[in-house]
Amino acid sequence: MIEMRSVVKSFGNQAVLNGVDLFVPAGSSFAVMGPSGTGKSVLLKHLIGLLRPDEGQVIVSGRSVPDLSREELRGLRRDMGYLFQFGALINWLNVEDNIALPLRETTNMPEPEIKERVASVLEMVRLEGADQKFPSEISGGMQKRVGLARALVTQPNIILYDEPEAGLDPGMSIAISELIRRLQAEYGMTSVIVTHSSDCASIAADRMAIFDGGQFVVEGVPEEVLHSDHPRARAFFGARST
Ligand SMILES: Nc1ncnc2c1ncn2[C@@H]1O[C@H](COP(=O)(O)OP(=O)(O)O)[C@@H](O)[C@H]1O
Ligand SMILES: [Mg+2]
Repeated sequence: MIEMRSVVKSFGNQAVLNGVDLFVPAGSSFAVMGPSGTGKSVLLKHLIGLLRPDEGQVIVSGRSVPDLSREELRGLRRDMGYLFQFGALINWLNVEDNIALPLRETTNMPEPEIKERVASVLEMVRLEGADQKFPSEISGGMQKRVGLARALVTQPNIILYDEPEAGLDPGMSIAISELIRRLQAEYGMTSVIVTHSSDCASIAADRMAIFDGGQFVVEGVPEEVLHSDHPRARAFFGARST
């Protein structure tokens, strides 16, 4: 379960989150769409405790994130996968070591078990056999899937995706969206997906909302929101060429 109540966050005099309310029930997936540079990544960073709200509450799995100790935050992050907007693979580590990173950072798991875990998530994202390759040796779509495998490797109950389809061709974007949907259906993870793709939202999300002006302005099931008459929805979708 993920909840934000009246969350406010400013950087200097720039108000980025301006009273955000969000509720994502356990086991469901929620997509966030909205103009660039408006605070969608900032919102996700509040959920894993990388940023603290100026005001309001951020509650994940019943715990108030800003109030967690460093040790508790480490535990929370073990239970949350995060697919970064810019992949954030480490160039000098091969695929296997990139994926193993969260296990080495947040657990004391023995190496043989780490290897098994890595092999199992590589299979989930259909990248068997790519474990010894370096990020520069694989395609953008494969890099995204490695990022996804890394987000999944701790077997989190919650997973946050920051533009999982960005930079991929349409076919690969659909494939990633279907993979997200399948993972959610099979493992019952609670997911938040920030995306620029209405296909991704309608494939992968149970509910979605448009984030604009520091708040959610239109919320509902994807079909409702994508075809909403709300002026902010029409302005957003109408202004987009894709
Ligand atoms: N750590 C930070 N310090 C100062 N400003 C930031 C920080 N993180 C994000 N911002 C600003 O907040 C705004 C929203 O950023 P972001 O959440 O990345 O937008 P997007 O909706 O494209 O993900 C931008 O103006 C960005 O420059
Ligand atoms: Mg962003």
